[in-house]
Amino acid sequence: PRSIYLTRHGESEYNRIGRLGGDAPLSENGLKYASRLQNYFEKEKINELRVWSSQKIRAAQTASKMAHIAQHVEYWKVLDEIDAGICEGLTYEDFESRYPKQFGERDKDKYHYRYPSGESYEDLVARLEPVIMELERQSNVLVISHQAVLRCILAYFTNQNRDDLPYLKVPLHTVIKLTPKAYSCEVEMFKFDI
Ligand code: F6P
Repeated sequence: PRSIYLTRHGESEYNRIGRLGGDAPLSENGLKYASRLQNYFEKEKINELRVWSSQKIRAAQTASKMAHIAQHVEYWKVLDEIDAGICEGLTYEDFESRYPKQFGERDKDKYHYRYPSGESYEDLVARLEPVIMELERQSNVLVISHQAVLRCILAYFTNQNRDDLPYLKVPLHTVIKLTPKAYSCEVEMFKFDI
């Protein structure tokens, strides 16, 4: 049976200080995770593994470690993180203090809330449709992307509803292995201690 593997990039310098979005490089811990991920896939010996990464630096750095193991490493802009518009580079605290009304609106309806000059989860689901269609057709694929994007992909393969989707747990330094069964997917999580 084939599997789809999902992982966020390793911890970035922005993750460390709690800033949203941006294009920061990996932190020291993030670099360690990239190596651990490489070891994991070396041991798994997966047939014809394809790797699809976002075009953000933190994802590409994580994916670069997979170059020897994978058949292809491709960089897709559609896998980039949700565009937080005017909130890019802010922490959640900055967001709440600068735009309290917006912050409240997002809390009320996180799925539909669209960042000014940015995207909503609903927008993201539409953006990811072609990726999901392609994932349905492929054999073994590792997707290296971001929290919000991976929530959308995970929700699709595990039939979760819109209200739960923006809150699904997709932690850092964890591989989520999805193995399609008749009507849903088996989900396994592998957490790496860094
Ligand atoms: O904090 C990391 C991050 O990937 C941000 O870049 C992004 O805006 C956020 O997570 C998405 O999570 P949430 O929708 O819960 O804010």
